[in-house]
Amino acid sequence: MFDGFYTHTKSVQRTNKFDIKACKRNIKLMKIRQFSLTGAVNDLALQIKFVDRESFQRINNYKALEKLGFEAKYKQLILLPESNSVLAGVEFSDKTKTADRYHKLNPYVLGANLYRQLPLSKTVAVQINELPGLLQNENSLRNIILGFIQASTQFTTFTKASEDSPANPVIGISMPLKRLLSGEDLKLIDSLNKGITRTRQLIDATPEEVNPSTIEKLIQDTFVENPNITIHAKNYEELSNLGAQGITYVGRASIHKPILTQVILKPKSEVKKKVVLVGKGVTYDSGGLDIKPDGHMKTMKCDMGGAATMCGTLKALAELGLEHTEVHWISAFVENMIDGSAYKPDDIITTLSGQTVEVVNTDAEGRLTLTDALTLASLENPDYIIDAATLTGACIFALTEHYTALMGNDEELNQELQSHFESEQERSQYVAMPEILRTSLAGDLSDLKNIPDFKFGGHVTAGLFLSHFINQKNFRNPGLEINQPQEYSWVHLDIAGSSYNKRNNDIDAVGSTGHGVRSLVSWIRSIDSNR
Ligand code: BES
Ligand code: ZN
Ligand code: ZN
Repeated sequence: MFDGFYTHTKSVQRTNKFDIKACKRNIKLMKIRQFSLTGAVNDLALQIKFVDRESFQRINNYKALEKLGFEAKYKQLILLPESNSVLAGVEFSDKTKTADRYHKLNPYVLGANLYRQLPLSKTVAVQINELPGLLQNENSLRNIILGFIQASTQFTTFTKASEDSPANPVIGISMPLKRLLSGEDLKLIDSLNKGITRTRQLIDATPEEVNPSTIEKLIQDTFVENPNITIHAKNYEELSNLGAQGITYVGRASIHKPILTQVILKPKSEVKKKVVLVGKGVTYDSGGLDIKPDGHMKTMKCDMGGAATMCGTLKALAELGLEHTEVHWISAFVENMIDGSAYKPDDIITTLSGQTVEVVNTDAEGRLTLTDALTLASLENPDYIIDAATLTGACIFALTEHYTALMGNDEELNQELQSHFESEQERSQYVAMPEILRTSLAGDLSDLKNIPDFKFGGHVTAGLFLSHFINQKNFRNPGLEINQPQEYSWVHLDIAGSSYNKRNNDIDAVGSTGHGVRSLVSWIRSIDSNR
């Protein structure tokens, strides 16, 4: 009889399967290459002229160019090698009959489109030389530049950097146009670029690079040497002791145990407003025991997109500095995985708020981790809580991949945030949370269950679920000692579709989009300057 198996096992050294400490690796984020904005661009730079129909027709040989098919239409481009220049069309005609508020001339798209169509492999410098009147304002120019730089951004860790692409490409602005931008505008472009780039880096990184073991160090690297920033973290043991089961149950089957981080940006002067940003930080969503079916798991590295969006927003704000607004960013980082310790349907979780939640489906994990993150946000006694989360596939079914679903408990705040999404031309759609659906989340053995027993409007019921953790009247953990229960002004952003692109479109290539950072920065800056 073959007994090799038995003799073999004798010589096997038994070690612990995983050494968690060894997993706490110090990882650098993916290397990036992108055009950078510079003041000085020499004459050899490729000269870019944005033209509408009228300014095009003022060009001497415009008829000859027309014969070649160039009519100055939005996103049309023609290269004029003899003058080392490019004409980029901006003439926009809205022939659609839909009431699409976002269907208009989009400077960010113009910039991105310019990058994608230029013969850039050997171009070291590009200069924006001319803009039609319509785009001659600081916001349009800012977004053209940002769109261009973001489209040029490549993550090169895992690719063979192409040998003929320039090492340090730059984009500049000609002297007359430079007058449009003050020093402050340049600072804003640079800060937004840093923030958006960081958001995208975190999302596009592999789950080996960004996970609950690596994230604390990555956050420290993001905010390094900023005296107005403080970073706090609670590890798995601390979260367990605290009773944050919404986080610990979901993340406990991973070799990378959960961690909660809180980053605080102090303003320069006295604090007058306080904003808490909360981001879903599921660094990988396998679905857990309710494992995702074929094809649905791929791209689930993006399930920390909410956390990354808030990280990028805070990064941009930290670079800019705020006068009177204190901003917090709270995220629970977990990996939704499977082993013998995996949480299960039928488990009842006691969240930090004291409310109990029956697990019906382990793939509705984001809302469970958000319960405790939102409770901690409420305990900060803020003026506003904004959360961003790649929360539901239903959001994509309902609104397509292009929209962020915006919900909330304060009509005025909903509208205010929406107006910032609109002015930055980042697509968001207000979605009502009908009170009539609230009872569908009532548990049989618990306060709540994590999903209702019907499938429609999953993004709406997810929003309703979260709302229980904003209103302290629902809280019943005696340890929290809440004397006067508050309900905070809160907006929930479901970015399941908008933060990650599965296919190229005219704004973004495949991968992370950085969507939301510009709008959130714009809103927080408006609070900071208005109140
Ligand atoms: N992370 C997903 C949502 C998601 C789907 C984000 C597609 C980005 C792209 C979330 O955790 C999830 O799995 N939601 C389930 C909920 C369901 C079990 C009620 C969904 O939407 O299918
Ligand atoms: Zn899930
Ligand atoms: Zn998820």
